[in-house]
Amino acid sequence: MAIEFSPDKLNRVSELISRYPHKEGAILPVLYLAQEEFGYLSAESIEYVAKLMGIPPARLYGTVSFYSLLYMKPMGRHHIQVCRTIPCALLGAEKITDSIKKKLGIDIGETTADGKFTLSEVECLASCGTGPMMQINDEYYENLSEEKTGAILKDLK
Ligand code: FES
Repeated sequence: MAIEFSPDKLNRVSELISRYPHKEGAILPVLYLAQEEFGYLSAESIEYVAKLMGIPPARLYGTVSFYSLLYMKPMGRHHIQVCRTIPCALLGAEKITDSIKKKLGIDIGETTADGKFTLSEVECLASCGTGPMMQINDEYYENLSEEKTGAILKDLK
């Protein structure tokens, strides 16, 4: 099936582009919209968005590779992002990541075979006082211990 925005999303793209003096300003929100619509940003969807916006695909690839919240491969239903920046690292972030790897049988950047979980390490999520912490999809989980993390993952299964 060809990659194509729904009519609603096409209207949203036009509206987003109209907000900026230059269409390049809308690259990021339009890519987020594409990710929401297509699940992830495949080469085909990036080319589609580039053509739609009249912007060279290389500009979009540059944006996608820079932002950790834009994905070029399918992600699990629950995207676990463990903060690895120094304040969280000092509070034991690595132990949390290791416990997740062990529990799910995946490494950083991998997705479980059932497509439920993807594990990533990310930089500061602005919740440094409550580390170690992780974000799963849109939700923050803070003051983590290995036990607490295991219970959170169990609840998500
Ligand atoms: Fe982990 Fe800031 S260092 S949230």
